[in-house]
Amino acid sequence: MALFWRVVSLQIIFAIGALGFRDPFNGKTNFVILLMDDMGWGDLGIFGEPNKETPNMDQMAAEGLLFPDFYSANPLCSPSRAALLSGRLPIRNGFYTTNERGRNGYTPQNIVGGIQDNEILLPELLKEHGYRSKVIGKWHLGQQEQYLPHNHGFDEYFGSTNCHFGPYDNKHTPNMPVYKDANMVGRYYEGPYNINKRTGESNLTQIFIKEGIDFIEAQTKKGQPFFLYWAADATHGPVYASKPFLGKSPRGTYGDAVRELDFGVGQILSTLKRLGIANNTLVFFSSDNGAATYAKTGGGSNGPFLCGKETTFEGGMREPTIAWWPGKVSPGKVSKQVGSLMDLFTTFLDIAGIPTPSDRILDGISLKKTLLNNTHVSKQVGNLMDLFTTFLDIAGIPTPSDRILDGISLKKTLLNNTHVDRPIFYYRGDLLMAVRVGMYKAHAWTWANSKEEFDKVPDKQTISISFLMSCQINNLQTTPLELVSENL
Ligand SMILES: *[C@@H]1O[C@H](CO)[C@@H](O)[C@H](O)[C@H]1NC(C)=O
Ligand SMILES: *[C@@H]1O[C@H](CO)[C@@H](O)[C@H](O)[C@H]1NC(C)=O
Ligand SMILES: *[C@@H]1O[C@H](CO)[C@@H](O)[C@H](O)[C@H]1NC(C)=O
Ligand SMILES: *[C@@H]1O[C@H](CO)[C@@H](O)[C@H](O)[C@H]1NC(C)=O
Repeated sequence: MALFWRVVSLQIIFAIGALGFRDPFNGKTNFVILLMDDMGWGDLGIFGEPNKETPNMDQMAAEGLLFPDFYSANPLCSPSRAALLSGRLPIRNGFYTTNERGRNGYTPQNIVGGIQDNEILLPELLKEHGYRSKVIGKWHLGQQEQYLPHNHGFDEYFGSTNCHFGPYDNKHTPNMPVYKDANMVGRYYEGPYNINKRTGESNLTQIFIKEGIDFIEAQTKKGQPFFLYWAADATHGPVYASKPFLGKSPRGTYGDAVRELDFGVGQILSTLKRLGIANNTLVFFSSDNGAATYAKTGGGSNGPFLCGKETTFEGGMREPTIAWWPGKVSPGKVSKQVGSLMDLFTTFLDIAGIPTPSDRILDGISLKKTLLNNTHVSKQVGNLMDLFTTFLDIAGIPTPSDRILDGISLKKTLLNNTHVDRPIFYYRGDLLMAVRVGMYKAHAWTWANSKEEFDKVPDKQTISISFLMSCQINNLQTTPLELVSENL
């Protein structure tokens, strides 16, 4: 009898084990954005960085969909992040300047303004549909109470409002506060949030990783869908890494920071796998703007692209982007869909089945089809041998089963073009500098101010400055497009 009950109970346990993938989120999809700070397109091994310092990001690409043609909405942190969370260009959401022709909307730590109440941020819409959201790391959308994350849809917050510049030691410029939700828990350069400027050592990335994992675990336990916006900032100057990562990269502390962030990406993705919620969770990896090439060895690489951060050349706004959603997004593919960080707003809402606000213009498009049905017609790599297979497929004739065929069927590629044609606008402040459509990019304006010129401006960190730093390109002038076309 006792044996019988043991067998029965074992069978029950087995049955629960087999059916055991109870979906804790009731069919809802979780969203994670892993947003790097000033990391360049060329910093990832998958895009050719020769030191191969990003095994976890490269693995993420192998398990997901890689977007080589993906853009930020501005080549600077604050406007780019405001556009990401609002789905709208900075010129619409308020993060732009009208002075100093084309100065990007830089927000120093004493910034007075911030994200406006009438902008609807992604977590506000998700919250109405039962989601809980957390931002970790750099906020950069205003430092006064009314602009803080908890007043714009985020339920949880760990990090700081601005960049980790410092250390400061006077009451007019204190070190930036570190927040846990609505409360200040310390300051950068102090206690556990210390950054050793001499050695580059800081434990901040490790703290951000732990905060992220704790949030994912807590939400899974509660069975409440979540949005995690993980905005770690170790690759923004002054770059930093914790002791185990320091001195490991041949690229110096910048490379050490990349390695530690890569480790963090691996930790977060493996947490999703360990909890069995990877196929409930869409993760996007990207960066807020191009690498700061003017920082020389203190900055990253934009691969083959011209210039970097603060410029509207490709190096300033083309971002290394990967979508990952095991079981939903097919692994190991490359999409030539031209995308924008603003699309995450629209895509997440589409996937969550939440209508987009109808009272405003959105600049993001939904990439749901691109993610789920990636047939990227225009950039499908083909072979003449495919005609054999494609014609048979279309005619409904089975292929011979007694031999290996090297062609593939392009039927889907021909019939289901999920590639969305859309323009990319490159702004500085309120000035439209360039537009990309398909394979073409037209520059209306190009700036060529050198670092030397920029450095001549007194008190660069204050508001009314000529913030036009660009890279030096010989023979390039501030020539409007009309003049260029007259000469063509
Ligand atoms: C990081 O944490 C370790 C272990 O607690 C500590 O020894 C080290 O001083 C910390 N680093 C900084 C820069 O505070
Ligand atoms: C999710 O993944 C688990 C394995 O981790 C699998 O058993 C389950 O069927 C998957 N669910 C869906 C909806 O694909
Ligand atoms: C993807 O394609 C399949 C058929 O190929 C279709 O049933 C499905 O609706 C498509 N999904 C999206 C999101 O377009
Ligand atoms: C194309 O997509 C539609 C739905 O979007 C689907 O019904 C159809 O089967 C697809 N065709 C092919 C050839 O995959």
